Amino acid sequence: MDLEIAGDAALVTASSSGLGKASARALAAEGVDVVLNGRDEARLEAAVADVREAAEDGASVVGHAVDLTDPTAGDALVERAVAEFGGLDHLVTSAGGPPAKPFVETSDADWYDAFDLLVMSVVRTIRAAEPHLRESDHGTVVTIGSLRVKEATDDLVLSNAVRSGVVGLEKTLSKEFAPDIRANAVLPGTHRTPRVEKRVEDGVRDGSYDSFEAGLEARASNIPLGRLGDPERFGQTVAFLSSPASSFVSGAAVPIDGGESASTM
Ligand SMILES: NC(=O)c1ccc[n+]([C@@H]2O[C@H](COP(=O)([O-])OP(=O)(O)OC[C@H]3O[C@@H](n4cnc5c(N)ncnc54)[C@H](OP(=O)(O)O)[C@@H]3O)[C@@H](O)[C@H]2O)c1
Repeated sequence: MDLEIAGDAALVTASSSGLGKASARALAAEGVDVVLNGRDEARLEAAVADVREAAEDGASVVGHAVDLTDPTAGDALVERAVAEFGGLDHLVTSAGGPPAKPFVETSDADWYDAFDLLVMSVVRTIRAAEPHLRESDHGTVVTIGSLRVKEATDDLVLSNAVRSGVVGLEKTLSKEFAPDIRANAVLPGTHRTPRVEKRVEDGVRDGSYDSFEAGLEARASNIPLGRLGDPERFGQTVAFLSSPASSFVSGAAVPIDGGESASTM
């Protein structure tokens, strides 16, 4: 299916690895020019090379290294996209994750840091992108969040609590920015990204799992489809939500979780 976005321009934040990178790859594979982002220059350069390999002929892929907690990052990223591609049609926001710890071990600084990383980075990037997205005749925002906004997980209090702000933001923008810009959220369950692989490796080291494979199986055991999510398929869902193929979908928060969520809505 042609998603009809070839020649468009996109910015994907926190995209030198994992779900962000997979989203950038899927967009580039549809012929979209993409700006990738991350903090570590070497990792970003490798990701740019990887996404270029997947890109449809003619699609440009560039990287812009900046820490999303820097208040000027959103402006800098959008300015780079507009300077490179002459405009911006699609914004996909991701970020790193806050530290996993129980509530009683969290400090005020942990809460403010989590808010800065997960919410303010998205607020600032959308604010910078909005005038350019309005100039597109099919501007979109897709925020990458977490299934944890629907179902809380032990020891992830910062993620459980703070990420909900982004879903509230996305829902509000789907009304405030309509009809010019569609806004949707995706809520990933467990996908096999470097971040999740590292958690499994840590689990092998601390004796929680007998082996890496056993760890992956354990993480998949509560997923009805019986496996972890494939980041490539996740990215394709983000590309679909960024395309006219989903032109009547706005204000949705879409779980991509293999059926893990027990919530009816
Ligand atoms: N994978 C899953 O199963 C899953 C499930 C639910 C939610 N999530 C959430 O989805 C997001 C992506 O997860 P992932 O598994 O794809 O992680 P990942 O493979 O570790 O990738 C994280 C990306 O974010 C970048 N990043 C982190 N902090 C940043 C910052 N301050 N400024 C700019 N870039 C930053 C990293 O690059 P640098 O480190 O070089 O900056 C990297 O490119 C996270 O928020 C995660 O909590 C993931």
